Amino acid sequence: MNHDPELLQRRFDRERRARKEAESLLEERSRSLYQANASLQEAMNTLQSCQVQLVQSEKMASVGQLAAGVAHEINNPIGFISSNLNTLREYLTDLAAVMKEAKALSRSVLAGAIDLHDRAQAFGRACEQVDLEYILGDLEAVVAESIHGTDRVRKIVADLRDFSHIDTPNLTHTNLNELIDQTLTVAAHELKYKAEVVRQLGDMPDILCYGGKLSQVILNLLVNAAHAIGERGRITVRSGADDASVWFEIEDDGCGIPEENQRRIFDPFFTTKPVGTGTGLGLHLSARIVEAHAGRIAVRSKPGQGATFRVELPIAGPTADQEERTGARAA
Ligand SMILES: Nc1ncnc2c1ncn2[C@@H]1O[C@H](COP(=O)(O)OP(=O)(O)OP(=O)(O)O)[C@@H](O)[C@H]1O
Ligand SMILES: [Mg+2]
Repeated sequence: MNHDPELLQRRFDRERRARKEAESLLEERSRSLYQANASLQEAMNTLQSCQVQLVQSEKMASVGQLAAGVAHEINNPIGFISSNLNTLREYLTDLAAVMKEAKALSRSVLAGAIDLHDRAQAFGRACEQVDLEYILGDLEAVVAESIHGTDRVRKIVADLRDFSHIDTPNLTHTNLNELIDQTLTVAAHELKYKAEVVRQLGDMPDILCYGGKLSQVILNLLVNAAHAIGERGRITVRSGADDASVWFEIEDDGCGIPEENQRRIFDPFFTTKPVGTGTGLGLHLSARIVEAHAGRIAVRSKPGQGATFRVELPIAGPTADQEERTGARAA
């Protein structure tokens, strides 16, 4: 072994230089790693806030669309109620004329007057002139139709109020069938030109859930079903309960989903709809909401024969741990 001090010193210096270079390289690397990390974090924050905005605008878009539909649904009964009120006003004038003759006749009878015959004839003429028989028959129908109309408006308004109130930030005990009915009322306008809606709702207990978010899921599935139907079809909504969970299914007889797409439909931004029509977020958000409830969402579809979406939800609701993991509140 060579113990020449000069040689040893040179070797030592060389190693020290090499170590210094490695250290400074390391420092530089970790600095640029740190910077990369910071800019990744920033990009992620931007993406997250974009996502929140997208979700928000998606909600706003569907709320706006629904509001227009609901306004139309309310306008319709209001239209025939107001036309019925006009008819009733005309009937009132006619009835007043008949009443006038009836009063004159009754006065003559009471006074023992001699013009009884003339009075009775005048009364008969007045009845014929206004077609009293018809009026009496129609009155019943006009009033019944108007009451039916106001009941409908009252139901729409009540459902709409519940629909907007259930969006509480807390888990509440809610009946899924009621959510389905409220959502069907709110979406009625979107659906009625496309499909006959068949309700087959089974008995079920209340579940612990975020009602507003589940309505959003039901709505997304209903709107998708309506979109999948070409001219006119049928949407069947079923529900039921097992021991520890409740379920609902939304089935349509529309175009169906090709096998290769079935895995992708829950991906964010996956859409087969023309630009500007679908954002491709509906099913992604729905799946996130169902996951946040510790539930499951699945699809069965044969292309050309329609699709069935099935959602299962635990009656007990998500555990705090599951909520934490899936970010339920942010969904
Ligand atoms: N019931 C259905 N029948 C046939 N295809 C469907 C059905 N539901 C969803 N799809 C397919 O899944 C795709 C994704 O659906 P999703 O609801 O996520 O987005 P979208 O409806 O396209 O847009 P939006 O974000 O406005 O809902 C749809 O574009 C469609 O191709
Ligand atoms: Mg959709």
